[in-house]
Amino acid sequence: MRTVVHKEDIVRGLGELGLRSGDVVLVHSSLSSFGYVKGGADAVIEALLDAVGPEGTVMVPTLTGSPEDSPENPPVLDVVNTPCWTGTVPETLRRRPGAVRSGHPTHSVAAVGPRAHELICGHERSPTPCGPESPYGRLMRWGGKVIFLGVDLRCNTCFHGIEEEVGAPYVLQERPVKARVVWPDGRVETVPVYIHRWGTPRDYPRAEPILLGEGAMRIGRIGKATVRVVDAKMMRRIMKPILERDPYFWVRRAR
Ligand SMILES: CC(C)(COP(=O)(O)OP(=O)(O)OC[C@H]1O[C@@H](n2cnc3c(N)ncnc32)[C@H](O)[C@@H]1OP(=O)(O)O)[C@@H](O)C(=O)NCCC(=O)NCCS
Repeated sequence: MRTVVHKEDIVRGLGELGLRSGDVVLVHSSLSSFGYVKGGADAVIEALLDAVGPEGTVMVPTLTGSPEDSPENPPVLDVVNTPCWTGTVPETLRRRPGAVRSGHPTHSVAAVGPRAHELICGHERSPTPCGPESPYGRLMRWGGKVIFLGVDLRCNTCFHGIEEEVGAPYVLQERPVKARVVWPDGRVETVPVYIHRWGTPRDYPRAEPILLGEGAMRIGRIGKATVRVVDAKMMRRIMKPILERDPYFWVRRAR
């Protein structure tokens, strides 16, 4: 029988997993993982906004980078028109009235809520895509939460931020790119930034038992979706020393 999920089910499920009014959250998602969601991506977004309340802020990754990006082939982000490849929920949220999108040429985010501007500002000039002065770094510093709706730690963009912080040797390209950002008013800005190097497989779920053991992560179910909620500040505090000791902790070794 088909599983039908309503907005209220999502609000309730997120509350049971510890979401509170005023939370700042980063959401990775798979819409189809729930079963059938009445109201689709908009209902998921409404549920997230209800769960954090008017004082809370909801952010999604609106990534656009590709393996072809390089100093010879610098990425271009048109903030209004470039679609993201991170799913229907982010693509819907970024187009929502009141949403703002950051200008990072590969790792932009979109956000709704009172802290949205503070989260995204200057992302286009963050020296590395997910570093301390990116929305991902701010989320970890501010004590926000990372929510995984029907997806797992494999898509945890914040882990890249920790890799960047410890200087993991496989994460960035050697030379910066001169990327271009097309802002909503049509202005084109050239930004010199270091972007990711593709091609090093990571075993991010290796962190799951550690985060669960330390009480930094909760797992539940909404409809057919497995939902994970991670305390972002604890996650960084736990994982950064591990990466400092072994920058290859997540790198899946060839067998
Ligand atoms: C790639 C990814 C987005 C695919 O998930 P998905 O559920 O297949 O895709 P979307 O979330 O875009 O939703 C579209 C799907 O929902 C389905 N759908 C449409 N309306 C729906 C509804 N009302 N209820 C449920 N599903 C619905 C669509 O049919 C489509 O499924 P299909 O491709 O099988 O036809 C997901 O696996 C993922 O990785 N998400 C995280 C991405 C991320 O944050 N990455 C960070 C850096 S690595």
